[in-house]
Amino acid sequence: MMSKSLVAYFSRRGKNYTNNGIAELKEGNTEIVAKKLAGLTGSDLFEIETVQPYPDDYQQTVAVSRQELADNARPQLKSQVANMAEYDVIYVGFPNWCGTMPMALFTFLESYDFSGKKIAPFCTHGGGGTGRAEHDIKKLCPQSEILPALSINGDRAANADEEITKWLAKRGLKK
Ligand SMILES: Cc1cc2nc3c(=O)[nH]c(=O)nc-3n(C[C@H](O)[C@H](O)[C@H](O)COP(=O)(O)O)c2cc1C
Repeated sequence: MMSKSLVAYFSRRGKNYTNNGIAELKEGNTEIVAKKLAGLTGSDLFEIETVQPYPDDYQQTVAVSRQELADNARPQLKSQVANMAEYDVIYVGFPNWCGTMPMALFTFLESYDFSGKKIAPFCTHGGGGTGRAEHDIKKLCPQSEILPALSINGDRAANADEEITKWLAKRGLKK
C-alpha cells in the first residue's frame, strides 16, 4: 500500500523578531517550511489554527503564550483533519514558543489517535532550536514513532531547501 503523508503546521503571521529587529511577516516562517516540505514529499497540507487569533504584536503574543504555557492551556482549534486515519506519516510543524510548541500543538496532538504512525516534527526558532518540544511530543504520543526533528532558524526558512532535503534523506523519508 502507498504510504500517505500529511504536513500539519501552526504558524503566526504578523510582527516577529528577525535578524533585522521586529518586522511584519506576510507568511510565517513555519508556513514557508511547511509548504516546501509538502512539495518535496507530495504530502497534503493542513494549517492548525486557533479559534482565538494571537495578537499581531510580538510582545503581546509572547505574553499570551507565556500565560497559556503556565496554565497548561488547550486553545480550541478552528478545524479538524477528517481523514487522519489514512495517514502513515504526519509532519508536525511549529515555531518554538517559550522553549516548546505553542499550546495549540498540545490540543492538536491530543485530538487524534496517532498510535502506530510516524510523527516527523519540524520547528522554526529564533536560536533556541526545538527546546523541550520533542520531549513533549513523546509524552503526548507515546504509541507513535517520533523521528528526530528538523530544526531551522526562522530567518533561514526561505532558504532551507537543502536542509530539508538532507533531513528527509537522513530520516528515510520520501524525497
Ligand atoms: C510568542 C513567541 C515566543 C517565542 N519563543 C521563542 C523561544 O523560546 N525560543 C526561540 O528560539 N524562539 C522563540 N520565538 C521565535 C520563533 O520561534 C521564530 O520567530 C519562529 O520562526 C516563528 O515562526 P512562525 O513565523 O511560523 O510563527 C518566539 C516567538 C514568539 C512569537
